[in-house]
Amino acid sequence: MARNRIKYVCSSCGYESLKWIGRCPSCESWNTFTEELIEEKKTGKKSHAGDEQISKLSDHVVETEERVKTNIAEFDRVLGGGLMPGSVVLIGGDPGIGKSTLVMQAASKVDGDVLYVTGEESANQISLRAKRLKVTGDKISIMTETDLDVILGGIKKLEPKVVIVDSIQTTYKPDFDNAPGTVTQIRECTVELMQLAKKTHCAIMIVGHVTKEGMIAGPKILEHVVDTVLQFEGERSYSYRVLRAQKNRFGSTNEIGIFEMHDDGLHEVLNPSEIFLSERDKQTTGSVVTASIEGTRPILLEVQALVTPSSYGNPQRVATGFDYRRLSILLAVLEKRANLRLSIQNVFLNIAGGIRIDEPAVDLAICCAIASNFSDKFARNDTVVIGEVGLGGEVRSVNHIEKRIQEAAKLGFKRVILPTNNIKAIKSKADIEIVGVDNLGNALNKIF
Ligand code: TYD
Ligand code: MG
Repeated sequence: MARNRIKYVCSSCGYESLKWIGRCPSCESWNTFTEELIEEKKTGKKSHAGDEQISKLSDHVVETEERVKTNIAEFDRVLGGGLMPGSVVLIGGDPGIGKSTLVMQAASKVDGDVLYVTGEESANQISLRAKRLKVTGDKISIMTETDLDVILGGIKKLEPKVVIVDSIQTTYKPDFDNAPGTVTQIRECTVELMQLAKKTHCAIMIVGHVTKEGMIAGPKILEHVVDTVLQFEGERSYSYRVLRAQKNRFGSTNEIGIFEMHDDGLHEVLNPSEIFLSERDKQTTGSVVTASIEGTRPILLEVQALVTPSSYGNPQRVATGFDYRRLSILLAVLEKRANLRLSIQNVFLNIAGGIRIDEPAVDLAICCAIASNFSDKFARNDTVVIGEVGLGGEVRSVNHIEKRIQEAAKLGFKRVILPTNNIKAIKSKADIEIVGVDNLGNALNKIF
C-alpha cells in the first residue's frame, strides 16, 4: 500500500493529519489519533452549479408536524415532546449502560411501525431481550444488518415511522475501505441516514457507544450532523439511569429523564426526590438536603461529606457526582471566610443515589455538609439548604426558588435556608419556615 494512502484522524473531533500526533491541535485531547485510509475522490460527479434553488422565507407555509410519541413520559420530555418526524436522534452512553434496553422499550410503545436494525446482536438475542422486557406485538420488525446500503433499502421498503440503528459503530458503507467504527465510516453513515430521514420523514434513533470523555469515535463529529444528542448515563454500580439532552434542535437541553433498572427493564422514576432521600440516615453528621433544579423539575438530594485528618502532607479530595474543581473552590472559601482549617483534612463528597449535579445552587448545602462533619455536629434534618456561594463567602440568589421551596414543603421539611436576596421574590406561601442568610458564616450558624 502506498504510503500516502494513510491519514490520521482524531476520533474525538475529526481533525485530520498526515502524520501521527499525540495531542490533537484542535480539541486538545491526547491519544485520539487513529489510522484511516484516504478515500479517493469519486470522479465523474457532475457539477450542480446553475441549479441553485432560492426561495423567500415567507413562501413557506409552516405545518406544525405531529411528534411521534415514544409513550415513555420521561423519554418524551427529554425529546421535547416526542420524536420529530424526519429527524435523527443520537443516543450515546457507555457500553452496557442500557441503551439497547431503552430503545427497545421505546420501540414497543411507539404508535406505528418500527424497524429495529442491529449489528450488535442476533435476532435470537433480540427476541430473548424482548421476552425479558415483555415486549410483544408485531409492529416491530428486526433487521440484523451492518451494511448501510442494505439498511437504507430496508427503510425504503418498509417505510416505518421510527427506525432504530444499534449501533452506529457497527454500521459501515461498503464504498469506503475504512473499517466500521472509524471516523470516516461513522460520519458518512450518519449523513446518509440523516438524508434519508429528511426524505422519508421517518424518525431515526441512532445508538452510539460514546463515553463521557468522548473517547470512542464519534461524539463531537456527530453532534454537528444530527438534530438531537441524548446522553444515557449513570454510575454502573447504581440502578439509576439519567437521560440528558446535550443538543436538541426541537426542544430544551435542560430536561432530564430518570429511570431505574429492573430485571424486566427500565422503570420511569416520576417522584425522584422521594427515591433519592429514601435511604437517608437522619442521625449522621455531614448530611444535608438540598433542592436542585433539573430541567423544569425540582429534585431534593442528599449531600454527604466526610472529613478526616490527613496523615500525609497531601490531603485527598474526592467528589462523586459533583465537579471536583468546584469542591476545591468551596473548600478554599470555607477555609478563608469561615475559618475552618480544612487544608490539612481529607475531604470526601458524595451526592447520594449516583446522580450528578452541576448547579451552583447546591454550593451552600455542600459547605454546610462539610462543616457539619468537620465539627462533628448534626445539621438539622428538617432543613433544606439552597444557595450559591461566592468567593467572598457571600450567599448568592438562585433561580426557580419557589419550585424548590414547594418541593421541600411537599416532602415534609419544616425549614428552608436560602439566600436573603431571594426572599422578596417569593410570592406563594408554603407551609415551611423560611430562613434568609447572606453569608456563609450566617448559614453555618443556622444549620445546627
Ligand atoms: P444494554 O441495554 O444491552 O446496554 P447497552 O446497549 O448500553 O450496551 O444493557 C446492559 C445489560 O444490563 C444487559 O445485560 C441487560 C441489563 N439490564 C437490565 O437487566 N435491566 C435494565 O433495566 C437495563 C437497562 C439493563
Ligand atoms: Mg447495546
